[in-house]
Amino acid sequence: MKKKNNFLGDIAGLIELLPERKRRIERASPGPIGDDPINELARSLHPQKIYFEIAEVRDETPTIRTFKLVAAPDSGTTALPVFRAGQYLAFREEVQGVVVTRPYSISSSPREALEDGFMEITVRKIPKGFLTKHIWKNWKPGSKITSSGPAGFFYHEPLRDTNHILGIAGGCGFTPFRSMIKDAIDNDLDLSITLLFGIRTPDEVIFKKELAKYKRKMGKKLKVTYVCSEPDGSWKGPSGFITKDVIKKQGGGVKGKTLFICGPPAMYRFLENELAEFKIPQKRIRREVFGEIDDITAFDEFPRGLKRKKFNIKVHIGSEVEEIQAKATETVLVAMERAGLAPQSKCRSGECGFCDSLLLDGEIFVSPENDGRRMAGVKFNHFHPCASYPVTDLEIIVNRSV
Ligand code: FES
Repeated sequence: MKKKNNFLGDIAGLIELLPERKRRIERASPGPIGDDPINELARSLHPQKIYFEIAEVRDETPTIRTFKLVAAPDSGTTALPVFRAGQYLAFREEVQGVVVTRPYSISSSPREALEDGFMEITVRKIPKGFLTKHIWKNWKPGSKITSSGPAGFFYHEPLRDTNHILGIAGGCGFTPFRSMIKDAIDNDLDLSITLLFGIRTPDEVIFKKELAKYKRKMGKKLKVTYVCSEPDGSWKGPSGFITKDVIKKQGGGVKGKTLFICGPPAMYRFLENELAEFKIPQKRIRREVFGEIDDITAFDEFPRGLKRKKFNIKVHIGSEVEEIQAKATETVLVAMERAGLAPQSKCRSGECGFCDSLLLDGEIFVSPENDGRRMAGVKFNHFHPCASYPVTDLEIIVNRSV
């Protein structure tokens, strides 16, 4: 009875509003509603795309290159957006007629983007890399390139993290830490950074001079140690891998620190064992996404006997339906890119959800290391093509990239 009364009360209230509604409609402008200034501001702070021009290219080592990027107003970007030190940009390139994306950490600081008008990324050339070969050949001063807006969760958040970062980096994983160190200096942050940087050979030491400059500015709040796995006779620092003993001795242990780890997948797997002894709560370990798994068959969980299999995928994309082929050992995302479908992606690691798609039929294997699906997504057959491999023929719905 009470409910009915409330219902009638609501109806009565609605009727009272009708004259006011009519009055407002009569007074409204006959022209179309203009752009909402708040939406406009949000778009400029967090753009979906950034159009860059390459201002400078610097060789850091024979295989590592830094690209200095500025806004390309002719293409539509007049100013660079804000970002958090440690975030990445997903670049979108057409290589041999195939549109691909790759995430690269921003290695410059947020202040440099806002005040000095540039961002930097530092890229390692992968010997058989599909995209890095293209980048080395084509990305020159004056080239125009496009990326997503800044993305990712690999940044220091004082509300969540302790004020001492223990960074463990490998490969080109130094780059987000460069941004964090610069940010700490620019903003005089109450933040200490101890960084263990794993390199293979002594000539992979990068940013050495720069680091000495940062060290002078941060004093005891910054400590960087290079750990070389294949040292020569001239190497004076610690050698081998970043083991628990190196973490204790060179990194000063883990007490009171939040771990930030960025490097190749093999390093993550190695560190899992090394870190076990420290019994660190999961909330104090942050891992940067690392892109796709190099060899999914190396995982024990990957179904046996599929290594050379190929499957058909029926893809509903936009208003089209395409039939494509995919190897069992490649992600559904790579198969779609190879077929020229240009699906959406950013992190390529199952984390951002940007490639979220719907599985209508068939079965997939989801990489155990980068399964970023939510429980509700799993329940309703959503999946991330960047972290999923076909194990039967599939039928899927995906979003076309914007
Ligand atoms: S591209 Fe980020 S989840 Fe697939």
